[in-house]
Amino acid sequence: MSQQQGSTASVSVIGLGPMGQAMVRAFLSAGTEVTVWNRTSAKVDAMVALGAKPANSVAEALGSNELIVVSLTHYDAMYQVLGQATDQLAGKVIANLSSDSPEKARVGGTWVRSHGAQFLSGGFMSAGDNIEHPASYIFYSGPREVFDAQADLLRPLSPQEYLGTDDGLAQVFYQALLVTFHPWILSYHQALALIERSGHDIDQFLPYAVRSAGAYPFFMEEYAKTAKEDGSGDLAALQMMDAGAQHIIEASEEVGADSTLSHAAQSLWRKAITETEATSNAVAMFDLMGGRKN
Ligand SMILES: NC(=O)c1ccc[n+]([C@@H]2O[C@H](COP(=O)([O-])OP(=O)(O)OC[C@H]3O[C@@H](n4cnc5c(N)ncnc54)[C@H](OP(=O)(O)O)[C@@H]3O)[C@@H](O)[C@H]2O)c1
Repeated sequence: MSQQQGSTASVSVIGLGPMGQAMVRAFLSAGTEVTVWNRTSAKVDAMVALGAKPANSVAEALGSNELIVVSLTHYDAMYQVLGQATDQLAGKVIANLSSDSPEKARVGGTWVRSHGAQFLSGGFMSAGDNIEHPASYIFYSGPREVFDAQADLLRPLSPQEYLGTDDGLAQVFYQALLVTFHPWILSYHQALALIERSGHDIDQFLPYAVRSAGAYPFFMEEYAKTAKEDGSGDLAALQMMDAGAQHIIEASEEVGADSTLSHAAQSLWRKAITETEATSNAVAMFDLMGGRKN
């Protein structure tokens, strides 16, 4: 069980960027006592003003509670921070909710355990730092019994999705979702630039953007189906997408909106067409992306 002081649940949060601060607020709202540490102390002061307890050192943050929630830019920062007090790690539970590659999370888990602590990896699927948004949730992976023992204490952060025992698994799912989210952010800004530079009103465009996004789940299910089917691609569809990419590029460039992303998309459609023409087997985009190699 997680450390309790009397009947009050308590945790330490290490790392007070936008996410760490949002976590501290969520814990405090749930009545959880929170001890905080951050490299830059001004961020500690802001959390203390809300009711958190300051730790003057990493060792003090580790010593204050059994469950330590880590929210840093990447796993390298975890070594730099927890490395300051490895003698305090034994008996602790490190829940690292920072983003990084699955392999970095696995190596991180091994490092934490080598110092006598337990480890959970988390991927925070939040709407930015608005972790109270109904769409926010957290992927967890690591030993099931460690997750079960800490689930109640971690619950104020966001709904939980435990994926499995592989320390890297939370990051596999988290990064796979970010694969789609990152280009979407960029392409959406390109679309807004296209609208504005065409002399039109972003507010007029917004409802249509939201409405069209309603079709994305349909495409997600369709492409998941074809990815599993081991089917071949469709040359006519690839050529249509290549032509479509050209129209997007021209629409953007006519008004001076950046088209870098659309050129990258077109180069992938063209790669599929070239490979199709070379082998006379229509290449499926899923295969071009590296699917079905195992
Ligand atoms: N922000 C989001 O919308 C969001 C959403 C989901 C997941 N995430 C992920 O959640 C994690 C935290 O996000 P964030 O936005 O709060 O990140 P962030 O702005 O990058 O800051 C996180 C913290 O890392 C600390 N840090 C970085 N390098 C350090 C080092 N070498 N030594 C000591 N401390 C170091 C920073 O300390 P200082 O204050 O001293 O600089 C800061 O407290 C990231 O992995 C991010 O990818 C972010």
